Amino acid sequence: FNVPIAVNEPVKSYAPGSPEREAVLKAYKEMFNSTVDVPMYINGKDVLTGNTRTMSPPHDHKHIVGTYHLAEKQHVEEAIATALEARKSWAVLPWEQRAGIFLKAAELIAGPYRAKINAATMIAQSKTIHQAEIDAACELIDFLRFNVQFMTDIYAEQPESITEAWNRIEYRPLEGFTYAVTPFNFTAIAGNLPSCMALMGNVVVWKPSDSQIYSAKVIMDVFNEAGVPDGVINVVFGDPVMITDTIMSSPDFSGLHFTGSTFIFKELWKQIGNNIHNYKTYPRIVGETGGKDFIVAHKSANAKQVATAIVRGAFEFQGQKCSAASRAYIPTNLWEDVKNYVIKDVNSFKMGSPEDMSNFITAVIHEGSFDKLVKYIDQAKADKDAEIIVGGNYDKSKGYFIEPTVIVTSNPKYTTMCTELFGPVITIYVYDENKYSETLTLVDETSEYALTGAILATDRYAVDEATKTLQNSAGNFYINDKPTGAVVGQQPFGGARASGTNDKAGSAQNLLRWVSPRMIKETF
Ligand code: ALA
Repeated sequence: FNVPIAVNEPVKSYAPGSPEREAVLKAYKEMFNSTVDVPMYINGKDVLTGNTRTMSPPHDHKHIVGTYHLAEKQHVEEAIATALEARKSWAVLPWEQRAGIFLKAAELIAGPYRAKINAATMIAQSKTIHQAEIDAACELIDFLRFNVQFMTDIYAEQPESITEAWNRIEYRPLEGFTYAVTPFNFTAIAGNLPSCMALMGNVVVWKPSDSQIYSAKVIMDVFNEAGVPDGVINVVFGDPVMITDTIMSSPDFSGLHFTGSTFIFKELWKQIGNNIHNYKTYPRIVGETGGKDFIVAHKSANAKQVATAIVRGAFEFQGQKCSAASRAYIPTNLWEDVKNYVIKDVNSFKMGSPEDMSNFITAVIHEGSFDKLVKYIDQAKADKDAEIIVGGNYDKSKGYFIEPTVIVTSNPKYTTMCTELFGPVITIYVYDENKYSETLTLVDETSEYALTGAILATDRYAVDEATKTLQNSAGNFYINDKPTGAVVGQQPFGGARASGTNDKAGSAQNLLRWVSPRMIKETF
């Protein structure tokens, strides 16, 4: 298969005075100071229902940057019907044409759309420019490029043939239509979930998060300009229950590609189970959900490196990554140094709007998230077995701002050691440096989720022991690094237990879930 060799998109620096900085600030200002009316997108047409909601940046929640239109049941039904119609030609299109469309989408983001998609992500999701660049630009470009390579790897996988019997596998798309449900926290995931299914020949109804509409719009503009045919990817906004009920009651529903909360994923799985007798085929279910991701330091670790893993792992993008470190286990011998480094780093962070590029921390996504985080922070202030050593202040008068907060607890099963908070809060348990093995067992036993985790140690035996004891506690396991920042083509991403089906995002394994192979034997 002759396809371009996939390479990771280089991350731009946005240094003061650089052209990319000027371009993104210009786009940000233009988009922030005007209003956009975002239609749904069904069968290649803009759909304006008149039933709208406003969009506001989390860091300036009284400021309106636009509206978006909400679906009625009939729009979802139309999206399904349209997708099934489009499937007739899309599913039989030569793979080169599908590949060409999504490779073009990658180049549009790398070039003319880069500033716009980054600015939309800064406005809608309150990402700093660096966090937007590694997500909305680089990771999405990487998904689009690498998926083409993974697709051809799959197609190349063929059985042996003998002269009289020619055996071949045809990697057909799923029969029916697929459903993508995407989260607010990564523009790249929002773009990848529908596009990777479409790349494999499927047709899609896509429901983005309400908190990500602006960047979802830019993704659709890119897909359109790249040449995705009408009806292949249809976008609907609005009531998730109505949309999901309509989709899942269709006999042609054939796959769910989901990233979001564990609770919702389990509810959707149940719903699919309840409808199972109505479907023409068993729907594929792929989900990446929550995490309670850990950092364990061994007594041989370097204290500065541990502190850096904590602050970057826990606080980049306000901790709103499913991979974010939210609990850490630090041995007594390192604690004083780690604590001092962490406090110094956190105190040096500036918090505010992403437009000011010297800010490291911006707002959390919405009021619901803010209020939930505040509840846990206030509880920690009151609890005897918890202490806040840095941060703990918050203010939602203009935006949903919460200081990066470090809780230290004497109780390894303290609420915030076990509950997913999805915000800029990490809880640390300081363990007896001579009880490393017991601590590893404790980490495993308290890992209801199993998404990411990190071990920091210079002692190789300690690394080996953690790797063995924590075998099932993380789908992405980092040795001497922070537990965030998986790169497409380098670290396929996903976890098991309550964290999902572990069908690694950014891998051929994931794309294989979106095909239904037909084995053909031909004799002569
Ligand atoms: N893929 C994202 C990360 O690794 C979630 O941080």
